[in-house]
Amino acid sequence: MALFSLFLASISFLAYASAQLSGSVGPLTSITNKKETALCNVVDYGAVADNSTDLGPALKSAFEACIDGGLVYIPSGDYLLETWVTLSGGSAWALQIDGIIYRGGTDGGNMIYIEHATDFELFSSTSSGAVQGSGYLYHIDGNISGPRILRLYEVTDFSVHDIALTDSPSFHFTMDTCTNGEVYNMAIRGGNEGGLDGIDVWGDNIWIHDSPAENILVEDIYCNMSGGCAIGSLALDTSISNIQYRNIYTWSSNQMMMIKSNEGSGTVENVVFENFIGILCENFLFLCILLTYWSSQTAAGGEGVTLTNITFSSWTGTEANGALRGPVRVVCSSTNPCTDITISDFAMWTETGDTQWYLCESAYGSGFCLKPDSGSLTSYTTTTTVSTAPTGYSAPTMAADLATGFGTTRSIPIPTIPTSFFPGATPISSLAADIYH
Ligand SMILES: *[C@@H]1O[C@H](CO)[C@@H](O)[C@H](O)[C@H]1NC(C)=O
Ligand SMILES: *[C@@H]1O[C@H](CO)[C@@H](O)[C@H](O)[C@H]1NC(C)=O
Ligand SMILES: *[C@@H]1O[C@H](CO)[C@@H](O)[C@H](O)[C@H]1NC(C)=O
Ligand SMILES: *[C@@H]1O[C@H](CO)[C@@H](O)[C@H](O)[C@H]1NC(C)=O
Repeated sequence: MALFSLFLASISFLAYASAQLSGSVGPLTSITNKKETALCNVVDYGAVADNSTDLGPALKSAFEACIDGGLVYIPSGDYLLETWVTLSGGSAWALQIDGIIYRGGTDGGNMIYIEHATDFELFSSTSSGAVQGSGYLYHIDGNISGPRILRLYEVTDFSVHDIALTDSPSFHFTMDTCTNGEVYNMAIRGGNEGGLDGIDVWGDNIWIHDSPAENILVEDIYCNMSGGCAIGSLALDTSISNIQYRNIYTWSSNQMMMIKSNEGSGTVENVVFENFIGILCENFLFLCILLTYWSSQTAAGGEGVTLTNITFSSWTGTEANGALRGPVRVVCSSTNPCTDITISDFAMWTETGDTQWYLCESAYGSGFCLKPDSGSLTSYTTTTTVSTAPTGYSAPTMAADLATGFGTTRSIPIPTIPTSFFPGATPISSLAADIYH
């Protein structure tokens, strides 16, 4: 996700057999219980909030003291992290970051790497703890291969919330092979450059074609200047099902949602995208809805990914220029048409000019230019141009601005976690600052 500020109220994902989450996500033990079991304050292990003593060894020692259950606590204040930490194998533990951690080292890898953990929580009780990656010091020279801020690998029953991740040299937050997790009330603000991803739930392309993604709920996301949401690039043996995105607000994104593939194999099915608001969607290159057959992606081989049972409902907002790039673009492979696609209650209008078009190619279902499935799935192309705004069109805005435009050559300020992530919606979970203080 390039060019962005991103605030999210919740990303929850787990492995259960329904698009609605039907099992528990998040840690199993409360913070109160963890704290009663053991409190491992980094200051007792050598940390000093002087922004010059290396936090790394103290954090590692505090973790080792709480590895079998307890609360690792970084009090408020400024800390310098010079050596990266791998915190491996903990259970029933939490990491409470009330301070601000500044990047002091230049190694690659991950500043904070948490692996093989169960019943884990990472949060700030004040909702103002943060990690400042000062990635601009890399980006100023055009380098986007510096360290990542936070990586979770093989972590189960966990949550990450109420923390701000700022200006990572590379990706901000990666979750690889994690289950029963919940991520919410976060602010992530990165540099103005491709490759500085905000959150990678599925990891990269290797992850997505080697491992199925199932039962994922993404909810209440507020993005400014982002690549937008995307599933893909899909390649061989894709297996994606039961995915739901809802309450997604984007401002000036490349696209509101894109499913992209070029050839490949396997399926994407049972997916719902609902309550999307996009303002100035597709300011840049991509398209608002693009299903399969993304021609600027290198062909993956295979007969094409099969897309079926995909619903887009309750979308509104504006695209930058509807005559140049219309808001509906469902382009499926002529040899492997998409089926059971539904577009309903979809009312986007153009910021510029007074026409917009809808393009459907070899896609079957209902809504706009989609052809009904009457049994014979032949290839077709239909473009419809309209010159009046659709019924129900509106372009709501957020109360709080998500500032962007910091570029890549100067320090990016740590953002404040907002109190709303979607117009008119209060966060699903209260901010930690309201719970603990
Ligand atoms: C802490 O140290 C880092 C690295 O030297 C620096 O960039 C940052 O501005 C310092 N923070 C404060 C609050 O002084
Ligand atoms: C970019 O940063 C990484 C990590 O510090 C380093 O290994 C690499 O040499 C840098 N690349 C360039 C072109 O400076
Ligand atoms: C289509 O997907 C929805 C949402 O995941 C699901 O509830 C429904 O059962 C699916 N329909 C079929 C025919 O599989
Ligand atoms: C997005 O960022 C731009 C540039 O900083 C700002 O003008 C705009 O108001 C922001 N929009 C929202 C919805 O936060």
